[in-house]
Amino acid sequence: MGKTKTWIRERKQEYYYKKAKTENYRSRATYKLAQTIEKYRFIKHGNVVVDLGAAPGGWIQAARKATTKAGFVLGVDLKPIAPFEQAYIRTIVCDMTEPTAIQEILSFLPGKADVVISDMSPNISGVWEVDQARQIDLATKALNVARQILCPNGNFFTKVFEGDQFKAYFEKVKLYFNEVKLIKPKASRSQSSEMYILALGLKSTEEADSKPNSLEPSS
Ligand SMILES: C[S@@+](CC[C@H](N)C(=O)[O-])C[C@H]1O[C@@H](n2cnc3c(N)ncnc32)[C@H](O)[C@@H]1O
Repeated sequence: MGKTKTWIRERKQEYYYKKAKTENYRSRATYKLAQTIEKYRFIKHGNVVVDLGAAPGGWIQAARKATTKAGFVLGVDLKPIAPFEQAYIRTIVCDMTEPTAIQEILSFLPGKADVVISDMSPNISGVWEVDQARQIDLATKALNVARQILCPNGNFFTKVFEGDQFKAYFEKVKLYFNEVKLIKPKASRSQSSEMYILALGLKSTEEADSKPNSLEPSS
């Protein structure tokens, strides 16, 4: 990478890192979700949101701004998340690869979820094929959770890595949601292969079986 590109990249990383510190957000990732909510308004006042892979809690902070205290946010992670003082935010330690995970999540919710968001990432091994496969596996777990706990017409937002298995995963999400977009938020590093899928409007089982939708990826 040339010096100019490295300089731009470092400035950008530093910009969101500093901004998060100044604005009291727990991670620079907060801005990836906040920018997407601002543009697509897919988390609304009063919504019930489940955040998978939520530690240290930056996305929880972005989601709670959109739901306000009229809603409820459940943060789930392998690691403990420092508690929030607001009663409408709960956090639990839970491994999403465990078969009991969905039941556990449901036991904490006031009703079905309006939105499921997932920023789950595997521990990066540095071997690209391995990391991409692990990431797709986590994104597939998140999609299964979304299909089982979302209310009709609910929304889903998940991280993916671009690569061999990405296209098949994108097509799978399209089977279950009315509108599916590929997104690269400004706060996401341009040289990173991380992308996000925003899926709007969970279809009913009958619809999903009969009408695959036709939207193509757009960045
Ligand atoms: C990039 S971080 C999430 C950052 C978060 N969105 C934020 O804004 O603070 C990814 C998280 O996924 C979690 N994770 C990875 N595998 C998981 C699993 N099987 N179950 C639950 N969480 C998992 C990791 O522990 C890690 O905290």
